[in-house]
Amino acid sequence: TKVRVKIPASTANLGPGFDTLGMALDLYAWIEMGIAERTTITLYGDQMEGVPTDKTNLIYEVAQMVFDRAGVKHPELDIAMYSDIPLTRGLGSSASAIVGALAAANALIGSPLADDELFQMATELEKHPDNVGASLFGGIIVAFWDGTRAEHIRVEPDDRLEVLVAIPHFQLSTEKARHILPREQSLENAVFNVGHSSVLVAALCTGRLDMIARAMKDALHQPYRAPLVPGLARILAEATDHGALGVALSGAGPTMLALVDRSSPRKAELERFLRGTLQQEGIESTTMWLK
Ligand code: HSE
Repeated sequence: TKVRVKIPASTANLGPGFDTLGMALDLYAWIEMGIAERTTITLYGDQMEGVPTDKTNLIYEVAQMVFDRAGVKHPELDIAMYSDIPLTRGLGSSASAIVGALAAANALIGSPLADDELFQMATELEKHPDNVGASLFGGIIVAFWDGTRAEHIRVEPDDRLEVLVAIPHFQLSTEKARHILPREQSLENAVFNVGHSSVLVAALCTGRLDMIARAMKDALHQPYRAPLVPGLARILAEATDHGALGVALSGAGPTMLALVDRSSPRKAELERFLRGTLQQEGIESTTMWLK
């Protein structure tokens, strides 16, 4: 027996929805898992250096949790993974590995666990439901986690939406980009984010693309993360002047994400603006159109 799963990358937050909004992107990782005589783990792709291939591998460890939860004996595993998702760039690579491992291990033993159970396990591991929810369910995910249970509603992305990501050629650990955030916030900032995130979700649900630029603003994380991502402050302030419907830091960064109307005549201009702004800061980047 052998199974193969394909898992999308994801972008978290979409600006104001810190730890609560996520969106799947059409950039993928694949995990193959089979029952074997002896465990082997093979990682393909040029960014897998330093990722362990023994039983401390995340995919292997997460698979064991599925077997425990399902109450089945732990088989030896033959695991292979290939990923196009850049690591530690804010595109949900760790969430995709966790979701892929959960889904593959569950499929391998006949799918005893429901998707919701996989979602709970993935959220518990990541400590926030945004990336894992998007990777597991696809589309746009509106979610919360109260420390015990995660709840979500999936929203189908508007057909007109296209995503442009600018991926800087440096890594930024999520841990560092979370550690820099203040533990306490003013009521004013909290109200700002609740309002903006709520209007953004309503705009995404009702096709109000005209409202995205005004709603996609954040006071809880992006201002504090800006010093870690040269060029971010300017890109957040000016991308909508260059044809973006809205712009945000993707997850914990350093990737930046613009929502764009796919019929916009200004797509090349926006791409030049993102790359050029980063270049002025001495940072090379890769841009990609997704979805
Ligand atoms: N919501 C998370 C954050 C996503 O912004 O830190 C990155 O893991």
